[in-house]
Amino acid sequence: VPDIAFVNEKFMPLGQATVHVEDRGFQFADGVYEAVRTYHGRPFALDEHLARLDLSLAGIKLVAPLSRSELAGIVHEGIRLAGYRESVVYIQITRGVAPRHRRFPTNTKPTVVLTFRECPPVSDTPLGKAIRIVTLDDFRWGWCHIKSVALLASVLAYEQAHAAGADDAVFVEPDGTVTESTAGNLFVVKESRVRTPPLGPKLLAGITRGKFIEAARSIGLTCDELPVTRDDLYAADEVCLTSTTVELVAVKSVDNRPVGGDKAGPVTTRMFQQFRKVHAGA
Ligand code: PDD
Repeated sequence: VPDIAFVNEKFMPLGQATVHVEDRGFQFADGVYEAVRTYHGRPFALDEHLARLDLSLAGIKLVAPLSRSELAGIVHEGIRLAGYRESVVYIQITRGVAPRHRRFPTNTKPTVVLTFRECPPVSDTPLGKAIRIVTLDDFRWGWCHIKSVALLASVLAYEQAHAAGADDAVFVEPDGTVTESTAGNLFVVKESRVRTPPLGPKLLAGITRGKFIEAARSIGLTCDELPVTRDDLYAADEVCLTSTTVELVAVKSVDNRPVGGDKAGPVTTRMFQQFRKVHAGA
């Protein structure tokens, strides 16, 4: 089965899907997106993703060309057409095609693009594959709570992490607090207490983050939404990152200092198992 896309109101093979060169997404990264995954073929937390998409759209003053239920319908239809066991769906909405000018165009229809790709079925690998991270001063724009398609800083940070022999980077604010990674939220465990940075404009309100907070609390763990510093990371018993696509990945070193072990630690593991039990039927 080929990957498929939905562009200009039609489904087509991904390889045939194109947007205009004057699309503002291409010219200015003037757009927002969502990534949704399935469990057992059903989109996971779709309502929450579509609600966050509305917040992102409002954040860039873009009026959605489709209602939430119309978008949900396209998501379900695409998943069905693609026919994968599990899929990741990207939804991208840009301010549409217009002559290149910074002013918002008037009477331009936003471009809606969805892509449907296969994603590996649920397995236990996340617990066994810990990664190395580095801390980087946050050089992204100030509105990280908006899920903007402007991911250049994220791309450069990710590249910088790899150049330094690591797998990902987490961002440090001028006040010394650490917010999130290039594409996921951050959790630390110290003396069995779980902590994740509080929501605000410097990080995305991850859907997975919310589910992990719930999972932790539901099994009796303390999970605080409080600032995390670089030193907290260095001193942590366990560190992990969460996102739709990876679910959870354990961290084994921060700036070359070992934290936790080569695999997810005991508290991370319990959180992860609870998350899977509730959401992935595992
Ligand atoms: N990224 N922070 C950033 C900067 C992200 O890009 C993401 C997700 C998250 C986690 O959000 P969620 O749990 O809702 O997926 C946090 C997606 C997966 C991506 O860019 O592909």
